[in-house]
Amino acid sequence: MVAMVPHLIWFTGLSGAGKSTLSSLFCEKLKKLNHHFYLLDGDIIRKGLCKDLGFSDSHRTENIRRVAEVSAILLDAGLFVIAAFIAPLEAERLLARGIVAAKGYQFIEVYVKASLETCEKRDPKGLYKKARQGLIKNFTGIDSLYEIPQNPDIILDTERDSKDECIMRLMDFLKEKGLITT
Ligand code: ADX
Repeated sequence: MVAMVPHLIWFTGLSGAGKSTLSSLFCEKLKKLNHHFYLLDGDIIRKGLCKDLGFSDSHRTENIRRVAEVSAILLDAGLFVIAAFIAPLEAERLLARGIVAAKGYQFIEVYVKASLETCEKRDPKGLYKKARQGLIKNFTGIDSLYEIPQNPDIILDTERDSKDECIMRLMDFLKEKGLITT
């Protein structure tokens, strides 16, 4: 039996850092614990709710704003929300934090850490290659800025630790914070 206080866990990091992988693994874990949650993932949300948006700073900000507003609605419904979005700028992450904080919910910033070099080597979708060839513009880390989180609540280092270790560290952190009790 697991009890959870509704809150938003935001996975931020470069494309290829492991946000989608870790967030979906984390959700599997929550499912096994019979917890109600909802996962919002950039790659999926950008095909629907945010399909009108591109990757300029203003479009990314709007993307993050919408996701934070949807998260606040889901939190109101008592769900635990996980968001996996690059959210490259500190100001965007602050915006998301502010939107959920205004409704009294906690925002947990998880920095999924991997160097640009590693992400580019992994290049799971071949997007870095295209960005280097100039076929994709405003690509995060190449010709668009990623501001490393200065004060994340937790760092999951996917270069150093295995996926399972990262998830274990996150679960321990949430338990320590009293956000999950088992
Ligand atoms: S965010 O910056 O607005 O938070 P988001 O997380 O929704 O970005 O989307 C990132 C995903 O879009 C990446 O994982 C990648 O698959 C894809 N993508 C396509 N073009 C770009 C780009 N120019 N910069 C970053 N990601 C891109």
